[in-house]
Amino acid sequence: MSSLLAEKKILFGITGSIAIYKTVDWIRSLVKEEAQVKVVMTEAATRFVTGLTFAALSGNRVYESMFDPLDQELIPHINLAREADLILIAPATAQTIARLAHGLAEDLLSAIVLASRAKIMICPTMNSQMYNHPATKQNLATLKKYGYTVIEPESGLMACGEEGPGRLPEWPMVHKKILESFTPQDLRDKSILITAGPTHEPIDPVRFLGNRSSGKMGYALAATASRRGADVTLVSGPVNLAPLPGVKTIQVKTAREMHHEVLNCFNDADIVIKAAAVADFRPEIEADQKIKKSDSATSLNLIPNPDILFELGQLRKTRKKPLVLVGFAAESDNHLEEGRRKLKEKNLDLLAINDIMAADSGFDVDTNRITLLSRNGGEEELPLLSKEETAMRIWDQVVKL
Ligand code: PMT
Repeated sequence: MSSLLAEKKILFGITGSIAIYKTVDWIRSLVKEEAQVKVVMTEAATRFVTGLTFAALSGNRVYESMFDPLDQELIPHINLAREADLILIAPATAQTIARLAHGLAEDLLSAIVLASRAKIMICPTMNSQMYNHPATKQNLATLKKYGYTVIEPESGLMACGEEGPGRLPEWPMVHKKILESFTPQDLRDKSILITAGPTHEPIDPVRFLGNRSSGKMGYALAATASRRGADVTLVSGPVNLAPLPGVKTIQVKTAREMHHEVLNCFNDADIVIKAAAVADFRPEIEADQKIKKSDSATSLNLIPNPDILFELGQLRKTRKKPLVLVGFAAESDNHLEEGRRKLKEKNLDLLAINDIMAADSGFDVDTNRITLLSRNGGEEELPLLSKEETAMRIWDQVVKL
């Protein structure tokens, strides 16, 4: 799947803050995602890093002045303003924020913003005292009134040695906001509960029964729902995936813990998707000492775990608040019959059947091939897609419901 940012024209405004060095990697990431990046630097910014660095990284010349002899016919502030899909100003100093709030156009970057119809995204970055000053607060409030996206700075140790708000946010959060600005916010204000990953059912202090779920499908669902504006809670079994910015994640190990957390969050959720591979069984006895090796065979008596999805299907019958309930089915054979049975039996609105026998779909791979069954009899077979694209298609169906 080509990146959402492919061919998107991002004008990257850079101003005079020591945090400039972090944006070098940001530009590399955007270019890797096939975005077309053009950098505009304020005069102060050129005191920290030369334009040469950003020209090399972006693959485009860097613009620093309204009156560069190279641009006589270009009228840079107008043309750069017109072609941009998104203007990202990071780091954004108090000075540039003040200029933008007062509609000044005394340098190339502020003139471009004033002349542009593009989405504007600002990352305020400065000493905490400056950030907390009423003038800066007032200017940022004005920018929000203009409809600009202001990404709150992080708190922590600043270059000036002080602690507090004003640090440039980490890339994953800004990257998520950039993707969001190109994504229809059709899940805005929806509260969504998602489960992901395997569960670990302990045998003794060091051993457990697990499965091959990596959590990728559930995490893709959470990331894409959050990008589409939803308020996402992710109940995750043990996985090796980076935490998702802007997604509330609750880590669990066993099916019982997952059961507990899901029931805790269930009433607030408008939509529930259960992508976790929950163990159907657990050892009847969890030994409190490591089971010693022995030559004779050892048997393990297994007892059933709560079927969380089934229980939600029951609970929804007495719930006032509307709900969209979506399950997954990991089937190895007679997918459709099994899927239709589960859809009915568990009282679902949608069921995603993934073929777990194919090497490129289901557990632990980056792609999936699913068939979507819906309560109204709809049946949609999706081609092999990335798990992110699969998630987007599932949300498209959910939005229709
Ligand atoms: O995590 P990945 O590596 O990306 O792999 C993705 C996946 C294959 C795990 C995922 O796409 C998937 O199919 N998840 C469901 C796996 C599973 O448990 O399928 P099932 O047919 O056994 O369960 C059916 C449904 O009931 C699932 O929604 C499951 O979350 C739910 N369930 C199952 C057992 C149980 N005790 N409680 C449940 O809620």
